[in-house]
Amino acid sequence: MAMNYISDRLIEEVRVACDIVEIISDHLPLKKSGKNFKGLCPFHSEKTPSFVVSPEKQIFHCFGCGAGGNVYQFLMKSEGISFVDAVSHLAERQGIPIPKKSGDSGENDKRKRLYEINKLAADYFHKRLSESSEGEKARGYLKQRDIDGNTINRFLLGYAPLSWDHLLRYFVKKGVPPALLEKVGLIIAKERRDGYYDRFRDRIIFPIFNTQGMVIGFGGRIIDSSDQKGPKYLNSPETAIYKKGSNLYGLNLAKEIIRKEGFALIVEGYVDLIALSRHGIENVVSVSGTALTGRQVLLLRRYTDKAVIVFDADSAGRSAAEKGYDLLLERGMKVKVIALPGGSDPDSFIRKWGRDDFLKRIQNAVSFIEYMIERIAEEMNLSSLEGQVDGVNRILPFLSRIPNSVERDSYMSTIEEKMGISSNALLMELRKASLRQRKGVDLSYVPEEVKKVVAEQSLIQLMLMDNSNIRRIREYVSKENFEDHDLGQIASVLFDLLDKNEEISPRKVIDLLLETHQKEIVSRLVIDHIEYDNVDRAVDDCIKAVKRRDIRCEINTIKQQRKEAIEMGKLEEYRILQERYIQLRQEMRS
Ligand code: UTP
Ligand code: MN
Repeated sequence: MAMNYISDRLIEEVRVACDIVEIISDHLPLKKSGKNFKGLCPFHSEKTPSFVVSPEKQIFHCFGCGAGGNVYQFLMKSEGISFVDAVSHLAERQGIPIPKKSGDSGENDKRKRLYEINKLAADYFHKRLSESSEGEKARGYLKQRDIDGNTINRFLLGYAPLSWDHLLRYFVKKGVPPALLEKVGLIIAKERRDGYYDRFRDRIIFPIFNTQGMVIGFGGRIIDSSDQKGPKYLNSPETAIYKKGSNLYGLNLAKEIIRKEGFALIVEGYVDLIALSRHGIENVVSVSGTALTGRQVLLLRRYTDKAVIVFDADSAGRSAAEKGYDLLLERGMKVKVIALPGGSDPDSFIRKWGRDDFLKRIQNAVSFIEYMIERIAEEMNLSSLEGQVDGVNRILPFLSRIPNSVERDSYMSTIEEKMGISSNALLMELRKASLRQRKGVDLSYVPEEVKKVVAEQSLIQLMLMDNSNIRRIREYVSKENFEDHDLGQIASVLFDLLDKNEEISPRKVIDLLLETHQKEIVSRLVIDHIEYDNVDRAVDDCIKAVKRRDIRCEINTIKQQRKEAIEMGKLEEYRILQERYIQLRQEMRS
């Protein structure tokens, strides 16, 4: 690969656009294990899996050989490539442009050209819908679906005329070479003869935008399903600028509103999103038919950590919701679900029942677990003991994935109530299976010398767990308080990011650390996650333990100085030292 210039920004952009579970799954099979995934380590030979991947933190660690890091370290190690090549490789996979160092921006210019062509095509389709006589049927269709002029303009909806080469001729007249049109998937090369034909013919066009608002692809819906061939929706193929599953339809318009509202609705279809927007509900994204991907979840999580799934009330929609729930929860999102009445999708629901009714449903959205409990109670026969066991087995996997034990416990009573499972033994089973958790370190039993190391490590772990812990710890602790050089180094990166007011995440810290073994300490501490009973107390205990050593040092120095002061008869100095000594003793005791 040519020498590319890899800027910090690019490193960050590519890192946040990748989903580590997806990338690693291309190399080895991963199996769900609690919050994480497990597999056989590709870096050393083993028979039982000790290789763990965290979807939430986007980090891997092998407890067998100690290898660990973020997506870059994985690729470097497994492909034997350099850091620069790992970044370039993933950038290409994600369709993210890599600037060349020489200032030669050829590659970028080419991509820009593709975006321009797509925008021209979108405008062309839009004009055909709004102005041409061929667009009349399409206009009538949209009107009948309650999509008004404003909405058509907002989403730049269009119409591709019934013709084999309308779009092709339009672009040829503009001097655009067909090869470029083929590159963005707007035309298709004929199989047996020279020449091309338009991909989208006699279809309503939905331009697909990226978060920056550039047109990256299209979806096209047939107008009258009775007399037309082909799929209901035809989509652009994958191109240099359009990667399926890397994008969420509507996010470009919704992102600020999602931030403001504090949550996002996730729907299945283009028209679902458009119908909600038409009714003034704008914090919506659409997966547009594909199964939700980890990359999409990570993209959404840049704007909010709360999502409400509003999938179609059919079996496909339900199973998509179940899978989506997993992906969202794994990556640290809080998930609720709206169950629509049978047979309806968000579009048909809001047109039939109106905005207020829909908003009420959002307000009453239940957590995914409650939704599942209700569904299982509805669908399964829970009157027999056998049925109850089946029901519990269905719900267990969902329950055990909830990281918070208090929250998990609260659902037990819901299960008891909704599923009518009263058998104590059954509940005991449930508790045992779902509450397998480890307790935080109790420093009171740890000997003094070890306490300090444990405390330092726990401090780093607590900071990697939650950014609010960094703020708290930063108030009392500085890099110098760490006796362990590596841990001090990690603390200093964390404190730096905090001081610079930058986004902080373990995977980013890993890129900022220089030494491989320091990166591996981070991945281990992140994945070897301890569920602390009381995080705030753990933070306080560890701060004290770390500070105490320094206080003890000072006490020893003061004792020495005090002795000298007495010997030299310096009474004033002695008094000052004595005061400080008492003060420190008190600090030690607190
Ligand atoms: P649906 O079949 O639920 O369609 O597909 P819909 O959204 O209700 O569409 P309308 O209301 O009939 O117009 C949901 C999404 O799946 C994708 C589309 O993105 C669609 O919005 N899809 C569906 C395809 O890509 N191809 C298809 O053939 C069908
Ligand atoms: Mn629909």
